[in-house]
Amino acid sequence: MKRFLPDEAATTAFGRELLDALPQDLAGWTLLLTGELGAGKSTLARAFIKAAGHRGAVPSPTYTLVEPYNLARGNIYHVDLYRVSGEDELRYLGWNELDDGCRIVEWPDRAPGLTGQADLAITLSYHGAGRSIEVTGLSERGKLIAATK
Ligand SMILES: Nc1ncnc2c1ncn2[C@@H]1O[C@H](COP(=O)(O)OP(=O)(O)OP(=O)(O)O)[C@@H](O)[C@H]1O
Ligand SMILES: [Mg+2]
Repeated sequence: MKRFLPDEAATTAFGRELLDALPQDLAGWTLLLTGELGAGKSTLARAFIKAAGHRGAVPSPTYTLVEPYNLARGNIYHVDLYRVSGEDELRYLGWNELDDGCRIVEWPDRAPGLTGQADLAITLSYHGAGRSIEVTGLSERGKLIAATK
């Protein structure tokens, strides 16, 4: 599915919609957010985390690499791989221990092997003054979600 998001509010609304499309228990889901600098990946992740009930700031994980949120629907891990190069580094930062929650990952292209273990690929692109967004299912359960969006 592909959609036009005219402004930031539309990206935020889409983050909420994405959360609503997922099962109540988010454990084990992996969502990949791809797009150029400023495409809106963090805006979408922030809306997703807030829609799941987080109150307060959603700081960028650019330096911490992972920001964890313990919420009613389970843990959400906001991951930014901008400064990571490859799967080895990803393992070193404790990626495998994040499987008790939902991993929402910016710059997944830094560790291409992630595609094989993720559920949804979400791509944001510049489109005039707004953005376009495309959601593709990677896993079988991800394909079911993508088909409904
Ligand atoms: N649909 C939209 N239309 C226009 N502007 C948008 C839209 N969605 C988000 N923005 C704006 O794009 C800017 C960049 O957003 P954001 O920080 O989310 O990008 P990013 O992809 O995470 O960037 P980075 O790669 O640097 O982490 C923000 O100023 C935000 O308001
Ligand atoms: Mg960002």
